[in-house]
Amino acid sequence: MRLRKNLEKITPYIAGKLKKGAIKLASNENPLGSSPKALQNIKEYLDRIHIYPDAQCTTLKEKLAEKYGVTEDMLIIGNGSDEILLFVAGAYIEPGRNAVTSVATFSEYTFATNLFGGSMKYGEMTDLRFDLNNILHLLDEQTQVIYIANPNNPTGTYVTQSELMHFIGNVPDYMLIVIDEAYVEFVTEDDFPDTLPLIKKHENILVLRTFSKMYGLAGLRVGYGIGSPKVISDLHKTKEPFNVNSIAQVAAIGAIGDHEFVNKTLQVTRTGKEYLYNEFDKMHLEYWKSAANFVLVRIGMDAQEAFKILMDRGVTIRPLPVLNYTDTIRVTVGTREQNELFIRLLKELLEK
Ligand SMILES: Cc1ncc(COP(=O)(O)O)c(C=O)c1O
Repeated sequence: MRLRKNLEKITPYIAGKLKKGAIKLASNENPLGSSPKALQNIKEYLDRIHIYPDAQCTTLKEKLAEKYGVTEDMLIIGNGSDEILLFVAGAYIEPGRNAVTSVATFSEYTFATNLFGGSMKYGEMTDLRFDLNNILHLLDEQTQVIYIANPNNPTGTYVTQSELMHFIGNVPDYMLIVIDEAYVEFVTEDDFPDTLPLIKKHENILVLRTFSKMYGLAGLRVGYGIGSPKVISDLHKTKEPFNVNSIAQVAAIGAIGDHEFVNKTLQVTRTGKEYLYNEFDKMHLEYWKSAANFVLVRIGMDAQEAFKILMDRGVTIRPLPVLNYTDTIRVTVGTREQNELFIRLLKELLEK
C-alpha cells in the first residue's frame, strides 16, 4: 500500500489512559457524571434508535440558536468538536497551505492540518499563555487557519478580550480564526473575551464549543461551531450526513437547559481548584492559575514515571511535557474526595 505522503508524519493520538477501578482525572471530564436531563432524554429515546438520526440536527440547532441569539445557518454540529476541527481542515487546508497556533496547545489542530496535507506553524508562548503577537508574526500569504484554544488546554491560561480584539484587527479577512472554547462554561474571569458579538461582526471567526466537559457528555460526542453563514456553509460541504447520532442529539437537547447541573458543576470545580492551588502552595509546587476545569502543575519528578505510579495507586492524571519541562502533569479537578485522594497520593510520591 502506498500511504499518502503527508500521513507519514502523523502518529495516532494517545488518549488519557483508563485503568479499571482507578479514578480518572486525565481527560477533563465532569466528575459529577452527566446532566440528569440528558440522561432522561436518552432513556425516553431508546425505542427509536432503529431510525436514522436527523442529519440537520434541527431541534438541537433551534435550541442553540435560541440560547445564543444567532440564526441556525450560523451553527454546525459535530461528533465532538474534534470533528469540527476536521471539517475546518477539510474545507480550508491543502498541500502548500499552512495553519498557525501556539506551542503547548491541543494536539488536534496539528493532526487535522497534517491530515489534509498542510503544515502547522507554532508561536512561542509568554508565561505559558498564547501570545497573539507572536502568532501575528507567523502569518503569511499561505496561512488559511489560526487556532486559539481559549482557555488553553493543557495550560488553563487564557487570552483576554483586549488581546483578542487587537489580534482580530490585524488578521487578514481571508484567514479563518478558530477560537476553541471547549472549557468556556467554567470561566469566571471578567476579562475573558465575549466572542458571540464578534462572530456577528467578522465573517472569519468560528467559535467551537462542546457538550463533553461541562455537560458531562464526552462519551456521546457532541460539539458545535458558531460562525458566519459563509463559514458554516463551507464546513457543511465536508460533513457526512449522519455524523451526530440520535442519542447524542437528544442528550444535548436535554443538557442545554440543565442549569442546576451546570451550577453544581461550577461550584465543585471552583472549590476543587482552590483546594488544589492551596495544596500545591503548601507543597511549594509551581502551577498555572486555570480558567478551566484542570490545572497544570510541575511536580519536580519525571511526569511519565509519576503517571505510572499514581495510576497503580488509583488515580490517572495526564503527563504532559510542555515547553522543555518534563515534570508537568495536568490534573482534572474532581470531586472533593477525588481531589483529596490525588493530593494524598501525590504527597506520598513526592515525599519519598
Ligand atoms: C481545547 C479542546 N478542544 C476540543 C476538545 C475536544 O472536545 P470534544 O469532546 O468536543 O471533541 C478538547 C478535549 O479535550 C479540548 O481540550
